[in-house]
Amino acid sequence: MKLRNFLLAFATAGAVLTAGAESRMDSFINSLMGKMTLEEKIGQLNLPVSGILTGDARSNNVIENIRKGRTGGLFGVTGAENVRKIQEIAVKESRLGIPLIFGLDVIHGYETHYPIPLAQAASWNPVLVEKVAHAAAEEASASGISWTFSPMVDVTREPRWGRVAEGAGEDPYLGSRMAQAMVRGYQGNNLAAPNTLLACVKHFALYGAPEGGRDYNTVIMDRQTAMNEYLPPYKAAVDAGVGSLMASFNEFEGIPATANKWLLTDLLRDRWGFKGMVVSDYTAITEMIAHGIGDLEECSVRALNAGIDMDMVSEGFNTYVVKGIADGRISMQRLDQAVRYILETKYKLGLFDNPYLYCDPKRAAAVLHSEPVRAIAREMAAETMVLLKNEGNMLPLAGSGKRIALVGPLADAPWEMPGCWNVATSKAHNVSVLEGMQKVFGDRVSYAKGCNALCDSVLERKLTGDYNSHRDGRTCDQMRKEALEIARNSDIIVAAMGELMNMSGEGASRADIRIPEPQRKLLRELVATGKPVVLVLFTGRPLVLTEDVRDLAAVLNVWFAGSEAGDAIAEVLAGKMEPSGRLPISFPYHIGQIPVHYNQKNSGRPMPPGRPYQKYRNSYQDIPNEPLYPFGYGLGYTRFEYGKISLSAPEMDKTGKVTASVAVTNKGKRAGKEVVQLYIRDIYASSTRPVKELKGFEKIELAPGETKTVSFTVDASMLSFYNHDLEFVCEPGDFEIMAGHDSNSLSSAKLTVK
Ligand code: NOJ
Repeated sequence: MKLRNFLLAFATAGAVLTAGAESRMDSFINSLMGKMTLEEKIGQLNLPVSGILTGDARSNNVIENIRKGRTGGLFGVTGAENVRKIQEIAVKESRLGIPLIFGLDVIHGYETHYPIPLAQAASWNPVLVEKVAHAAAEEASASGISWTFSPMVDVTREPRWGRVAEGAGEDPYLGSRMAQAMVRGYQGNNLAAPNTLLACVKHFALYGAPEGGRDYNTVIMDRQTAMNEYLPPYKAAVDAGVGSLMASFNEFEGIPATANKWLLTDLLRDRWGFKGMVVSDYTAITEMIAHGIGDLEECSVRALNAGIDMDMVSEGFNTYVVKGIADGRISMQRLDQAVRYILETKYKLGLFDNPYLYCDPKRAAAVLHSEPVRAIAREMAAETMVLLKNEGNMLPLAGSGKRIALVGPLADAPWEMPGCWNVATSKAHNVSVLEGMQKVFGDRVSYAKGCNALCDSVLERKLTGDYNSHRDGRTCDQMRKEALEIARNSDIIVAAMGELMNMSGEGASRADIRIPEPQRKLLRELVATGKPVVLVLFTGRPLVLTEDVRDLAAVLNVWFAGSEAGDAIAEVLAGKMEPSGRLPISFPYHIGQIPVHYNQKNSGRPMPPGRPYQKYRNSYQDIPNEPLYPFGYGLGYTRFEYGKISLSAPEMDKTGKVTASVAVTNKGKRAGKEVVQLYIRDIYASSTRPVKELKGFEKIELAPGETKTVSFTVDASMLSFYNHDLEFVCEPGDFEIMAGHDSNSLSSAKLTVK
């Protein structure tokens, strides 16, 4: 048993203890809980906010409550000294001196920002994602933070939903790999190490499927779909040892997730064996009043009984749990269990040994924005960029000696580079595209803004209010003229355009997901000059680009690439770095297609791809069924050729394995990276199955002319799914095994399971 636990501690990220350590923790916590009053126990269940707000509510009497032992943790405070001061109040002035846990949304960096999570998923490089999460933990953990509200693993097929930027896109398998990499990166092997953070997988569950793409909206989904298509990344994070989990705002099966016992207890604890603590989202308990579940008393009781251990900001627990215990609606056992999860978490973080473990100004000064972390940011940025179009190998621009007109509202906007959720960065550090391009291309670059990001000045000010509007006061005509003039005097136009960073993220849904109108107009005028136009596209979501990209020479989707964006973009444009991202989510052909995703089910009347409209078929009269750019798609600066997939055997039994192999050759003149992708289809099953599902991938690097054979082991777990009774089964029969460059360019072979 001991050995098993010992091994487990290394197989999963740092929240798992050895048997000996676990029993020491148990006796410590038993003894502490023995000393706690009812009020002090309930006090541990409260997580107020200070500083950074993500809703209308704020917390009152924060310091006084800490003194009284009525607070378990605090979030929103940044900086080692600030955190230390508050921790001292908890430790020195409260009766039992229980340290607080300090949380923050370290979503894709702390001071140094890495590409947004959706972009990181586009890297298809879990090793690098883990390295980035660890680098973020290095900075945040030196600055007082012990707990990050990340990773967000909500699978989504909703590009209108702003929070698509924070997750890994549309696929449960890619999402699971990213979730595990982030958990490992934050937590390391030892949660009590001073440079690791407690991770928090969120938002449990199904937050990524809001009706109409509006944030916080109702989710309507059956359990089987949830288990097969949306829940795997949360489970993957639990399997990787994530130490905490956040419930979501939305409802599931008519009950808000925050009060949903099936989700928070039956599935999470009883079926998946989760041992960490569960926190609500920001005021999610109070928000159940608006959902129509009851008053704050009813909502608080239901939340605790369903499985919420810690309340973020609603502040109903201190009042209503005492009452709930008194009238028997809450059992003492449930309260003790919640308190224990929270105290165990603090114990595993090492806070009882050293409450100031994460407050080290010296380490902060050495690590924050240091060259090693910035180098990781640049490396990751290039891996996330997706080259969507490259007519006649327009890119890279290297060595052409040509004059470049850099145009667009995102070109000289360093403050926009990090992307949404950058709560701790000083913003002074971000490198703009203009700055990066001047370093690489020197005075061959001329610049004009060309237009403001949005026509709607009121909306633009709202979106940029927290970092001051940088809206240009000139008339549209003046700005346009200036841009067209430099465009005419150049050989190539680079247009840095797209969304502002706050057009995605929380509470940032959009109905029209095209590039904002003034920029589209300018883009058309730039194209009309006859000069080749390269679009450097900023976005936190898939955009509908169909009309805009038609006449462009090249399109490089850079998402929001983080603090080092400008340098990384310039180096990629110049060919010093390779853009090796692949889409983690489909880019729709038209807004009316949504949801459009590669792992769809077949209808009884499927439409053959690429055919014009046919009556009585599953199709549209006016647009194709397929997205403009499919899941998995992305070009590089070289060209790869695939052989046909082969299987080591055409049959296997349920305990067996076969190897699927495919050869890939670099046919170009440059070295390059390719993501080899493996998909399967269950052809007949007791329930309908998707037309393809990603089950494996490998990112490889090939020298010019080099061939590599990539092999994947196919076993029963890869061929299994949750049946109608929610059992995970591999049903005998035929499967299609597919490999190739993206979800739309695959060769296939048949496998029979006996
Ligand atoms: C609300 C968001 O939904 C959640 O993701 C975040 O962690 C909390 N606010 C705290 O900022």
